[in-house]
Amino acid sequence: MAEAYPGLFITLEGGDGSGKSTQAAGLESWLREQGREVIRTREPGGTEVGVEIREIVLHHRGDIAPRAEALLYAADRAHHIATKVRPALERGDVVIQDRYLDSSVAYQGAGRDLGMDEVRDLSMWATGGLLPDLTILLDLDESAARLRLDSARTRFDRLENEAATFHRRVREVYLDLAAAEPERFLVLDATDAVATLAASIRSRVASLL
Ligand code: TYD
Repeated sequence: MAEAYPGLFITLEGGDGSGKSTQAAGLESWLREQGREVIRTREPGGTEVGVEIREIVLHHRGDIAPRAEALLYAADRAHHIATKVRPALERGDVVIQDRYLDSSVAYQGAGRDLGMDEVRDLSMWATGGLLPDLTILLDLDESAARLRLDSARTRFDRLENEAATFHRRVREVYLDLAAAEPERFLVLDATDAVATLAASIRSRVASLL
């Protein structure tokens, strides 16, 4: 929380199928009831440029070299933070964002075997060093996540198609990141009831408002 801006920057992280969107939507409604201005956004794809980058990173047919993939996510992030997120934080809005740099560290850094520190540094460079005030990690083990996805969809993106070991590794890295920065992270068990999770999130956010 090194930066001074009047807004609040909240990110949600977790494996595919961990319920981030449901919790983001619930938190947004609750904050609006409190009279707060809220922006809900996501990476990749929170801007027009980002939508095009998202199409490449998630749906390109064929391989993308790991470093190129990391740079594409970083490019999406750089543009998103500069044009949408920072201006909102400077206005005093609450930004609720589905995925941020921890996704890159977990998926590109660990899942793809790029150095985790390097991937984090790349995102820090891309964003001028912006860290969230709060990161909510919806922790879900790989097999539970797969079950949820299988019942919900017929078409999987490039990352969702990765093997179980990839997703196990991603989960471990998320938990390590949370342990390393306990003041920034709120780790929740994604198998808890939606209402239970929402209550935990609201109480932590209330303490930051
Ligand atoms: P998202 O659209 O949030 O999908 P989901 O609803 O499944 O969470 O994210 C799409 C994918 O992008 C997801 O599998 C994780 C991946 N991703 C990265 O690999 N690196 C990143 O930096 C980000 C932001 C996402």
